[in-house]
Amino acid sequence: KRLGVLLSGRGSNFLAIARAIREQRLPGAEIAVVLSNREDAPGLAAAHKLGLPAFCVPSAGRSRVDHDAEMLARLHQHKVDLVCLAGYMRVITPDFIRAFPDRIVNIHPSLLPAFPGLDAQRQALEYGVKISGCTVHFVDEAVDHGVIILQKTVHVKDDDTVESLSARILEQEHIAYPEAIARVLSGEYTIEDRRFVSHENKA
Ligand code: GRF
Repeated sequence: KRLGVLLSGRGSNFLAIARAIREQRLPGAEIAVVLSNREDAPGLAAAHKLGLPAFCVPSAGRSRVDHDAEMLARLHQHKVDLVCLAGYMRVITPDFIRAFPDRIVNIHPSLLPAFPGLDAQRQALEYGVKISGCTVHFVDEAVDHGVIILQKTVHVKDDDTVESLSARILEQEHIAYPEAIARVLSGEYTIEDRRFVSHENKA
């Protein structure tokens, strides 16, 4: 299956997916294209370095509809089956979502539905939760809302800062994202109401 990875920044989740492919933890998967809406995204440079097809589709000063149309064209051009948002800091249009039904996944650094939106780790810390983590979910038309594929937890320590908590969550993100993608690519699941039910390892 052909993955399209969308990012805007650092790209560590993209690199975790690339590593999982290299280590054969994502059988049958390859990264077909990496797209960034920012020219200066370190993740874009990292993709070039790995020799992957990688492009910037600049979003600055453009309408969402216009920008997403070009993103979609690129994804189709590279025959992408599954779109993986990996620190992609743009809300995508309903047309984009409809073009890939149940074929867009995202990772978010909190246990959804707690702390959607920006600065999730700061929100968690300020709320005073004792457990946080990350969520991999399908993307639907509401932000950070789609069906949850999997979650991983981390304990919040009394002396955590946004940085230390974010780093601990990020370690789990790098494990969770490839695992979740593997589950989706296996096709061995059903979605029952809002529930992602994996049928792997079942007789
Ligand atoms: C991650 O924390 C991810 O959960 C959030 O954005 C951050 C991206 O980090 N959606 P990276 O670019 O993958 O390193």
